[in-house]
Amino acid sequence: MFKFVDCIDAGTEYCPCYLAEKGECIICSQLRGRVFCDCLNWKGTCIYQEYTWNNNKAKKAREFKEYTVKKLNMIRDDLILMEVSVNPYLAKQLNNIGAFVFLKRPKSPQCFATPVSIMKSDIKNNIITLAIKILGVKTKDILECKDKIEIKGPYWNGVQGQIFIKNLKNSEVLISARGVAAAPCVMLANKLKKSNNNVVVILDKGRSNENFAKKEFLDLGCKVYDVDMIKYSNYTLKEELKQLIIELMRKHDFKVTVSGGSDEFHRLYLNFIYSMDKDIKFVTINNSLMTCGEGVCGSCQLKLNNGQIIRGCKQQYNPAEVFINIKGDVNI
Ligand SMILES: Cc1cc2nc3c(=O)[nH]c(=O)nc-3n(C[C@H](O)[C@H](O)[C@H](O)COP(=O)(O)OP(=O)(O)OC[C@H]3O[C@@H](n4cnc5c(N)ncnc54)[C@H](O)[C@@H]3O)c2cc1C
Ligand code: FES
Repeated sequence: MFKFVDCIDAGTEYCPCYLAEKGECIICSQLRGRVFCDCLNWKGTCIYQEYTWNNNKAKKAREFKEYTVKKLNMIRDDLILMEVSVNPYLAKQLNNIGAFVFLKRPKSPQCFATPVSIMKSDIKNNIITLAIKILGVKTKDILECKDKIEIKGPYWNGVQGQIFIKNLKNSEVLISARGVAAAPCVMLANKLKKSNNNVVVILDKGRSNENFAKKEFLDLGCKVYDVDMIKYSNYTLKEELKQLIIELMRKHDFKVTVSGGSDEFHRLYLNFIYSMDKDIKFVTINNSLMTCGEGVCGSCQLKLNNGQIIRGCKQQYNPAEVFINIKGDVNI
């Protein structure tokens, strides 16, 4: 019922990639060693033909380049808003749902590469805005970037379930977001509003007075509700969040809901909504572990409900296939 698998890079200038060279292309059966073509995800180019034309090699992979930090605003002791001047190509490519980049301090080794989502991309002035939570080694290193920063990108798999929102028009969408996962939701809300969708946002303010993204959502014309979402003693959804969702679902006809949080939060949230509406489509923010971003290292691997293992950095999947508990025993 839920099934689909897609590659976010298929048909882009980064396709075919290393996976094709090793007979592991996500989309092309012939580049997986089969003799027939069963291409179900036509993206305007034949991956097999592109591979042949490119002398049976992968296209050039993304590389780190140095850019200028325009503004670094410490909005909490562990949260920064950063604006970076990039080139017009990168600004344009990053002005998309699910866009993210790898960041690192100039001259820091590759192992410091940190995936960070794009909150806004100003394509007139070529400035991208990022919200970064300072957690450990890599993000502390980024905090030292006062003037220059290295960026590798563009990547687009920071949002899962894009098939449900890319062409959505004149519809209603509920976004529920916590912490820095609100940043990619701003980009998402921006695109949804441009297609005349009504976007209702529930935000968890966490330790701050209000979520850093609240003003962005209000500026886009979204209706915003602040609420505490999680009961930490047993990590369940708080009653006030559940009541608000029930009320909003009575009032609106949401076709899609977006979960902006950790994988643990996605599991709670999706199962709660699914218990009330089996037809609603789910979109999730993909901010769990990622290392290479190229489908190679395997650190982003996750299991679908049918047992299939997929790589979350490259592959699009239906979030319901990962987070809906088919046995229905999740504690929400
Ligand atoms: C596609 C993508 C987009 C992302 N976008 C953003 C963003 O816009 N802003 C942002 O601040 N972060 C974002 N992240 C998460 C960010 O990459 C990690 O927080 C960062 O890599 C942590 O590195 P570290 O070395 O500072 O901390 P680590 O030493 O790796 O971790 C320190 C502590 O934080 C926990 N932790 C590590 N990673 C995460 C995570 N992803 N979620 C929750 N807890 C974690 C660890 O378990 C550990 O307890 C994104 C991740 C992905 C994959
Ligand atoms: S992050 Fe390396 S395979 Fe996905």
